[in-house]
Amino acid sequence: MSRPPLLLLLLLLPAARCPAPAATPRLRLSFPELRARHGLRLFQLERSCCYEALLLDEERSRLFVGAKNHLLSLSLDNISQRDRKIYWPAPVEWREECNWAGKDITADCMNFVKILHAYNRTHLYACGTGAFHPTCAFVEVGQHTEDHVFKLDARRAEDGKGKSPYDPRHAAASVLVGEELYSGVATDLMGRDFTIFRSMGSRPSVRTEQHDSRWLNEPKFVDVFWVPESENPDDDKIYFFFRETAVERQQGLGKASVSRIGQICRNDVGGQRSLVNKWTTFLKARLVCAVPGTDGADTHFDELRDVFLLQTRDKRNPLVYAAFSTSSSIFQGSAVCVYTMADIRRAFLGPFAHKEGPNYQWVPYQARVPYPRPGMCPSRTFGTFSSTKDFPDEVIQFARHHPLMYNPVLPHGQRPLFLQAGVPHTFTRIAVDRVAAADGHYDVLFIGTDVGTVLKVVSAPQQSWHGMEPLLLEELQVFQDASPIASLQLSSKRQQLYAGSATAVAQLPLHRCGAYGKACAECCLARDPYCAWDGTACTRFVPSTKRRSRRQDVRNGDPNLLCSEGAWGRGARCRARSGETTDAGCRPAEPSQGRVPQRQLYGVEGSSAFLECVPRSLRARVAWTYQRGPDAPQREVQPDERVVRTERGLLLRSVQRHDAGLYVCRATEQGFTQPVLRLALGVLSAAAPGGRAPWYRDFLQLLERPEAACGRMR
Ligand SMILES: *[C@@H]1O[C@H](CO)[C@@H](O)[C@H](O)[C@H]1NC(C)=O
Ligand SMILES: *[C@@H]1O[C@H](CO)[C@@H](O)[C@H](O)[C@H]1NC(C)=O
Repeated sequence: MSRPPLLLLLLLLPAARCPAPAATPRLRLSFPELRARHGLRLFQLERSCCYEALLLDEERSRLFVGAKNHLLSLSLDNISQRDRKIYWPAPVEWREECNWAGKDITADCMNFVKILHAYNRTHLYACGTGAFHPTCAFVEVGQHTEDHVFKLDARRAEDGKGKSPYDPRHAAASVLVGEELYSGVATDLMGRDFTIFRSMGSRPSVRTEQHDSRWLNEPKFVDVFWVPESENPDDDKIYFFFRETAVERQQGLGKASVSRIGQICRNDVGGQRSLVNKWTTFLKARLVCAVPGTDGADTHFDELRDVFLLQTRDKRNPLVYAAFSTSSSIFQGSAVCVYTMADIRRAFLGPFAHKEGPNYQWVPYQARVPYPRPGMCPSRTFGTFSSTKDFPDEVIQFARHHPLMYNPVLPHGQRPLFLQAGVPHTFTRIAVDRVAAADGHYDVLFIGTDVGTVLKVVSAPQQSWHGMEPLLLEELQVFQDASPIASLQLSSKRQQLYAGSATAVAQLPLHRCGAYGKACAECCLARDPYCAWDGTACTRFVPSTKRRSRRQDVRNGDPNLLCSEGAWGRGARCRARSGETTDAGCRPAEPSQGRVPQRQLYGVEGSSAFLECVPRSLRARVAWTYQRGPDAPQREVQPDERVVRTERGLLLRSVQRHDAGLYVCRATEQGFTQPVLRLALGVLSAAAPGGRAPWYRDFLQLLERPEAACGRMR
């Protein structure tokens, strides 16, 4: 099934690009750099941890946070500012019980806040593990920002069973719809009885059938969303995302993990004679995120990690972005797949999976399906039933035995939008921002990893390779200690990203346009839809500003078109498509020589010299030219046994007198070449008085590993 990562990468790499594997970001920014220069802000609370629940409240300008024994109310503009907090520990009796049950009193017998929802105009609803005694409470936050209310009445706490997990290591997923809470969670101390559960509100609670592995089989819930299906609220559905142990695999193949999407109707109140207070509209389908293999053996990203619903203008059709990793020990990788609601609905309207008996295969159910079709909500839109209690017995029986759909939900484009393999991290969280750029809308992905980094990815249309090309713009180390990103929230309005981990909460702007460089070409090559060249600097692109004064080209990232003098003046059009080399007549005017930094360097005859040149973009390819004197021809430096190219520059072993001259380092990216540095090398005679110059340093030590010349890799 699984194939080695290298092979996979080779299959997926756009052949014309080199050396830019999917794992190389254009910019990699470290934690100290982000803190010092790019507005990274942190929040930490003494004697707490585990900032797992983040709730964004734009109206009150607050970021509400659930952590160990605490609830926090932070300013969305600056989370480092003085906070308001609520101490919410588990009562001593519960902690003692927890300890008697064999749990660690200092580590586990605490109240880990896992659930945080906006309840009404004045209150939040929060749930925590309560030392293996789940508990929930209303939190008063006031109607307005100015109210400065942040209060929890612990005496009025409610039972949190079926809402919060018992175990701090477990996750729960839930959504509040009106006054009702839909949750996917373990409802027992041992973490064995899993349920999809509706509680609160005025209707009786409804849950999934207990101890029936066809319904749920050791599920891990990831997310829950409410999506309307028509104008009629009776058709509203709740979608659960989870992963579980596959039931549809043949015996003997071991435990296989599958990712799922489950659905229930919002107006499901259970059956009348059977399935009383159990869902009658529960269905689930397999969610596939895989790379098709040439031999039909697909590489599966089978472990769903996180889901982000990107709202579009049509409330019924959000885009579903999902992050996956692999459960395989042979093949390790992560991927992002996108699903449309149309494809999801199609799977639920397709054939039901059916198994005649223990020794039979799973097949599509061929016989007559009772009416109304299981999974349909009782509503005037599609039928005549007004309640699930009116459903015929035949329908209820069919629903009980056929919760699984035969057809899986395939991703948009039949393949992942972005994937990484053979890298030392996996994806844990995802948030998506739809950004208006000069040439259309782009979805920018922010992907949290298990090593405290956030990847910023944009998918741009590409000419040569399957339509879309993911661009890894930035790799950002937002936590000092490489702890996994446990929660991720994004504010388009404020252009800020918020991340939580075991150790801290972090806040970071969505863009750092200036970090791409000080030249138009650098700004343009970055292809960051948030950024544009304004004539003097790379700055935030705002679509409403005057169009002519801004330079941006996310689609092609072509500086020839945007940054040459012609583009600013009388429109001399000179176009080079990415991947092609610019022919001489079409080369844009190089920036005036004064703007390219120039350095003087001396080497000693017979020893080595290192010409360092690291372009800002990690995706650029470096080439060197050499010129003996002002009138001598310029020629390209060819590596040989004496001249070695390294990742950081050019190493001349045993410098000779004739090596003296002008070296120019040029960076090429997407067919666009720009000079980065001019180095004048002088060669000193080894036989100078006093022998070796005292400042001499053998640069051989700097040589880490010679870079394989790009051309040879093709
Ligand atoms: C954010 O708040 C912290 C703590 O009050 C303060 O030191 C810092 O200057 C603030 N940053 C900004 C940009 O306001
Ligand atoms: C919000 O809900 C809380 C808890 O039920 C209640 O006390 C409060 O009055 C409600 N507020 C509004 C504005 O309805």
